[in-house]
Amino acid sequence: MKKLLALAATTPTEYVHLEERFELVRLAQVPDPEQAIRDHADDIVGILSNAGGIAVTRRMLEALPNVEIISQFGVGVDNIDLQAAKERHIVVTNTPDVLTDDTADTALSLLLAVSRRIVEADVFVRVGRWHSGAFPLGVSLGNKKVGIVGMGRIGQAIAKRCAAFGMTIFYHGPREKADISYTYYADLQQMAGHVDYLVLACPGGAETKHLVNAKILKALGPKGFVINIARGSVIDQDALLVALSNREIAGAGLDVYQNEPQVPEALISMDNVVLLPHIGSATQETRAKMGHLVVDNIFAHFEGKPLITPVG
Ligand code: 8YV
Repeated sequence: MKKLLALAATTPTEYVHLEERFELVRLAQVPDPEQAIRDHADDIVGILSNAGGIAVTRRMLEALPNVEIISQFGVGVDNIDLQAAKERHIVVTNTPDVLTDDTADTALSLLLAVSRRIVEADVFVRVGRWHSGAFPLGVSLGNKKVGIVGMGRIGQAIAKRCAAFGMTIFYHGPREKADISYTYYADLQQMAGHVDYLVLACPGGAETKHLVNAKILKALGPKGFVINIARGSVIDQDALLVALSNREIAGAGLDVYQNEPQVPEALISMDNVVLLPHIGSATQETRAKMGHLVVDNIFAHFEGKPLITPVG
C-alpha cells in the first residue's frame, strides 16, 4: 500500500477517507521521526503538511524520493520549500477560499476587542470590579482609517467587513490592484502614518519578513493599533514589544507569533494587547472544508485528474 506522511500531531477526521487507499505514517506518533522517514522512504508518495506546522524542507524531500504531492492544510505555504518541491516536480496544493471568511472574522474580532477593550471588560465583570466604578472608555471603529497589508482574498474580506463598520480603507502590497477601488500606498511607512489601524493579511515568508519594524510602528503612532492574522514573521516581534511597552502604539491584536506556540512573557503581562492562539480558520465548518480539500487534492492527483487548488 502506498503511504502518506502526516506531519501534524493530530489530523482532521476527514483524513479517514485517505486511509481507504493509503497508509498514513503519522510522524508525531512514532518514537524516532528520522528513522520512520528512512524506514518508509520508498513507499511515501505524498506529504500531508500544515500551515504554520513542521517545515517541509529540502532535506525532507531529499529523503523521500517518491513523493509526488504535498497537500497543505491551510492557505499559507511559507513552511514549504517550494523551490525544492518544484525542482523535484512535486506538486503542492493548499486550502484557499474556504477559510477566507472565518479568517477575516477573526481579524474583525481583534479590531473590536482591542478598540472596545472586550477582554479586559469581561475580566472587569468577573472579578467584581464593576461595583467600584465604571469601566474605562474604549475607542470607536466608525470613521477610523484602516490600512490593510496584503489585499488578497483575506485582505479583501477584511476590507468588506471594515467598510460595514464605517471605516475608510487603504492598502499596501507589492503592487496596486486594478480591480480594487481602495486607495493604494506603495510605501508602507506612509500608510502607517496615515491610518489608525494596521491590519496584516499578507503571506509570510522571506519577502515579508519583518515588514513591520520599529519605523513602521513609530509611524502608526500612539493612537494606532496593529492587528496580525498573517504570520508572526511579518512583524519584528522585539520591535513590537518595545513599541507596546513604551506606548509608542496604542495596542495590538495578535493571532500569530514568531515562535508559536511560544508567546513572550512580556506580551502576556500587557493590558493593551489581545492574544489569540492562531485561530484564524479555527471553526468546525471551515476546518472540515479544509480537511476535505486536502483529501480531494490527494485523490485528484493519484487519479490523474486536475488538482482542485494547486499552489502557483
Ligand atoms: C492553519 C493558517 O491552517 O491557513 C493558514 O495559513 O495559518 C491556518 O489556517 C491552521 O493553523 C492549521 O495548521
